[in-house]
Amino acid sequence: MKDKITIIGGGNLGKSIISGLAASSIFKLTDITVVDKSRYNLQQIEESLGVVTSQEIKSSIKDVNWVILCVQPRQLTTVLSEIKEILTDSQILISTVTGTSIAEINEVVPDNKVIRVMPNTGAAKKLSMTCIAANDNAKQELEKVEEMFKTIGETLVIEERLMQAATVLGASGIAFFLRFLRAMIQGGIQMGFHPHEAQVIAVQTAIGAATLVAENGTHPEREIDKVTTPQGCTIEGLNEMEHQGLSSSVIKGVMASYEKINTIK
Ligand SMILES: NC(=O)c1ccc[n+]([C@@H]2O[C@H](COP(=O)([O-])OP(=O)(O)OC[C@H]3O[C@@H](n4cnc5c(N)ncnc54)[C@H](OP(=O)(O)O)[C@@H]3O)[C@@H](O)[C@H]2O)c1
Repeated sequence: MKDKITIIGGGNLGKSIISGLAASSIFKLTDITVVDKSRYNLQQIEESLGVVTSQEIKSSIKDVNWVILCVQPRQLTTVLSEIKEILTDSQILISTVTGTSIAEINEVVPDNKVIRVMPNTGAAKKLSMTCIAANDNAKQELEKVEEMFKTIGETLVIEERLMQAATVLGASGIAFFLRFLRAMIQGGIQMGFHPHEAQVIAVQTAIGAATLVAENGTHPEREIDKVTTPQGCTIEGLNEMEHQGLSSSVIKGVMASYEKINTIK
């Protein structure tokens, strides 16, 4: 079988994944098929990315070896029951669906290898953090899946038991960082900047801070030391933030999110 892939669901995430794959040389454009309900949506994807599109799931997964499930959790049962009739054992499923385990998918399609991925909305700018998990039976396929998801950002292979934690840290994490960014902008406005000026400064500073840690491989505190003059204004601000519970509230927020995700079904 030729290396071919079908993405079921051309929504927010699906489009980002398709765009990453289309820009890479992993698959030929004619070997990438996108299935969605909306003809209009498919037309736009076809025109902008040059991949094959279809509204028909069954015919689109024939003869492909990879199928990416990119629909909402509530839509997964319908999609799985539709594809299970024609899926062959050698076809590998990649699920982006939040909160559905490999075992749950294998209850419907017991003979197929399933790999779970958890990207984030950074995927739209090719800056996703994508965590990937597989059972022992699909470990050999991990390298290829990493290659696919590196087209939309960074990847990390994790154990499936950590998938909920990855959702909180990576996917919800986008919102957590953005709330901190908003607070920085609000502080900037109070000091006298116009909102757009405060935003430019805060955003570029956040990119700089994250890039220092990412590229230097240092612990954040090491980079903090570099801007913290003894008795200066930075340590004054940092310590006040800590007295007000910054680190504690972030950790508690992350854990509240984690407790919640473990109750959602
Ligand atoms: N967005 C993210 O950054 C992100 C991150 C991590 C994980 N996820 C997970 O990724 C999955 C997709 O998220 P999303 O934000 O891309 O969702 P989305 O924007 O709602 O996209 C899903 C797409 O699939 C289509 N669809 C649903 N059922 C279908 C069917 N039977 N046949 C063909 N197309 C069908 C939907 O069409 P209709 O709208 O017409 O139903 C929609 O266009 C979710 O399970 C989510 O939990 C998303």
